[in-house]
Amino acid sequence: MKIAIASDHAGYQMKEQMKQHLTETGVEWIDCGTNNDTSCDYPVFAQKLCHEILCGNAEKGILICGTGIGMSIAANKVRGIRAALCSDCFSTKYTRLHNDSNVMCLGARVIGQGLAEELADIFLNTFFEGGKHLKRIEMFE
Ligand code: RB5
Repeated sequence: MKIAIASDHAGYQMKEQMKQHLTETGVEWIDCGTNNDTSCDYPVFAQKLCHEILCGNAEKGILICGTGIGMSIAANKVRGIRAALCSDCFSTKYTRLHNDSNVMCLGARVIGQGLAEELADIFLNTFFEGGKHLKRIEMFE
């Protein structure tokens, strides 16, 4: 599986550690920036990541900012992107099962690295249930 990952300055350290975790678990990634912890504008990186998904270069995406909220608002402006702010295991599992979310957003100032990595594992390994949920997500478009 190949995914895209991006952050702003607040999520930079978490992104770097997450890349290491992904590699260790056999997940390939494309890094859409940022490349350091200098203050930057998260919508720029959200847009780059969404582009990689819509072009077919990546199957899913992980966006990280301070709260995860700015990134989720920005990503959900892009048609075809279903971004979910993830901070617990149950919601992360069900946003895949029921919403077929293709982007997860994490708050590096809200949750720790260990939980972030566990949530990423759940997000990347849970499959959409389809059925009645398909009609509902088609209504987004
Ligand atoms: C940056 O200070 C912070 O505003 C950003 O990382 C994010 O939390 C926005 O939603």
